[in-house]
Amino acid sequence: PRARLTIDPDFTIAPVPRRLFGSFVEHMGRCVYTGIYEPGHPKADADGLRTDVLDLVRELGPTVVRYPGGNFVSGYYWEDGVGPKEQRPRRLDRAWRSIETNEFGLGEFARWAKAAGTEPMMAINLGTRGIQEACDILEYANHPGGTKYSDLRRAHGNADPFDIKLWCLGNEMDGPWQVGHKTAAEYGRLAAETARAMRLVDPTIELVACGSSNRHMPTFGEWERVVLEETYDQVDYISAHAYYQEHDHPGDFLACARDMDLFIESVVATADAVRARGKHRKHIDISFDEWNVWYQTRHRESAIAKGESEWEVAPRVIEDEYSITDAVVVGTLLNSLLRHGDRVTVACQAQLVNVIGLLRSEPGGPAWKQTIAHPFEQVRRRAAGEILDVRVRSDRYETPRFGDVDLVDASGTWDAENGVVALFLANRDQTEAATVEVGVRGFGELRVQHAAVLAAAEGQDRHTNNDEQHPDRVGLRPLDGVEVADGQATVTLPPLSWAVVQLA
Ligand code: AHR
Repeated sequence: PRARLTIDPDFTIAPVPRRLFGSFVEHMGRCVYTGIYEPGHPKADADGLRTDVLDLVRELGPTVVRYPGGNFVSGYYWEDGVGPKEQRPRRLDRAWRSIETNEFGLGEFARWAKAAGTEPMMAINLGTRGIQEACDILEYANHPGGTKYSDLRRAHGNADPFDIKLWCLGNEMDGPWQVGHKTAAEYGRLAAETARAMRLVDPTIELVACGSSNRHMPTFGEWERVVLEETYDQVDYISAHAYYQEHDHPGDFLACARDMDLFIESVVATADAVRARGKHRKHIDISFDEWNVWYQTRHRESAIAKGESEWEVAPRVIEDEYSITDAVVVGTLLNSLLRHGDRVTVACQAQLVNVIGLLRSEPGGPAWKQTIAHPFEQVRRRAAGEILDVRVRSDRYETPRFGDVDLVDASGTWDAENGVVALFLANRDQTEAATVEVGVRGFGELRVQHAAVLAAAEGQDRHTNNDEQHPDRVGLRPLDGVEVADGQATVTLPPLSWAVVQLA
């Protein structure tokens, strides 16, 4: 296939929102326990944080990390996870049919986030709890001192407030699977009143109302409308969540970023309609705070999902191993987020370790990067300055779900200060290389500064993954043959590949 991209330094969408490259740590399976935290592991520090995992997290560099759930948060008592560890109770986590030891809680997470160099983002429980508990945790986290909960934090060894800015008002409250699931009207009222009370405790916070758990929920659209009618003046963001997997048509799976595009554009349209009707001045942005590839059909067959497992501490749950195909899809999902960076200003890949993770770790053993970590890390590192309005004219292919879809998918940024164009490109064609021509005349003299690609190497196929024995089997390798001449860059993308090209 062939594709022609048109870019111009004057045609930009928005500054790259740094919080677009977030991730998520839920008390679920082995994300926390034996993921980021494992006292007794040879690489654990004095607080039990795994330094081998921390090193990999620092390389990935998620700019924000959401915590502690997810479905978990809708039954969570945050107070159980603070104070002397020997006094912390064990509880049943109904969301993931596990035993929560509470050895790790808010204080440990704040310490971990600092060590990882990331911004913490907290979710509160609006499933089984409400306004008062939301204000209590906020007082514990952000109030300097001299009150019950701020003094408790200080007594627990944290003199300085955690100063957490981003707060999610519950999780997936539209989902019948959620403990404390609500109708849009019930949730909208509770979220508005909780937000109002939380802002009285700390007016500097930013608040996320729950949007839909995916675009195919029966309440999609109407949920956003009703929730935003109730909460518009009290919140800053509406959330979106989306997970994709390959069913019986790889071409469909490779095109699933179209679903993300449509999801984002529909939520923006709904939010703007509420804005117009309510004569509001501000815009509501999207916090796409859960997104990834997730083989949900496999999970639905598991004993945990069927309620047939024993109650265990940190069982293995949804430890999907990601292939080259999954990495290409993740690259296209990042493209979709970046293309909409004027309105999607927070996003969290879900999740960071083990549970549908960018990273994997074994108890007492090693930690490594999954295939999907590579596009995430590269876009986080190299997207800088302004998002370019990349116009793509590509050969197309037919898909059952999305109709005709571009074989070449792209996004890009322009860092005017350093004179760098970064392009993120995917070739969805499974058998043919793609020739991509990019008109770069408007940027002055450019040369290739960096070009790397993720694709099947000799002896591999689209299903190849990384594992404990082969942690580096799939990664990036130099992309040869990129040329810039007469105001045009030419890139050849191998079949089924994701690439980054930097011109400076
Ligand atoms: O990330 C896994 C789960 O997916 C989260 O707990 C929930 O919010 C979503 O359904």
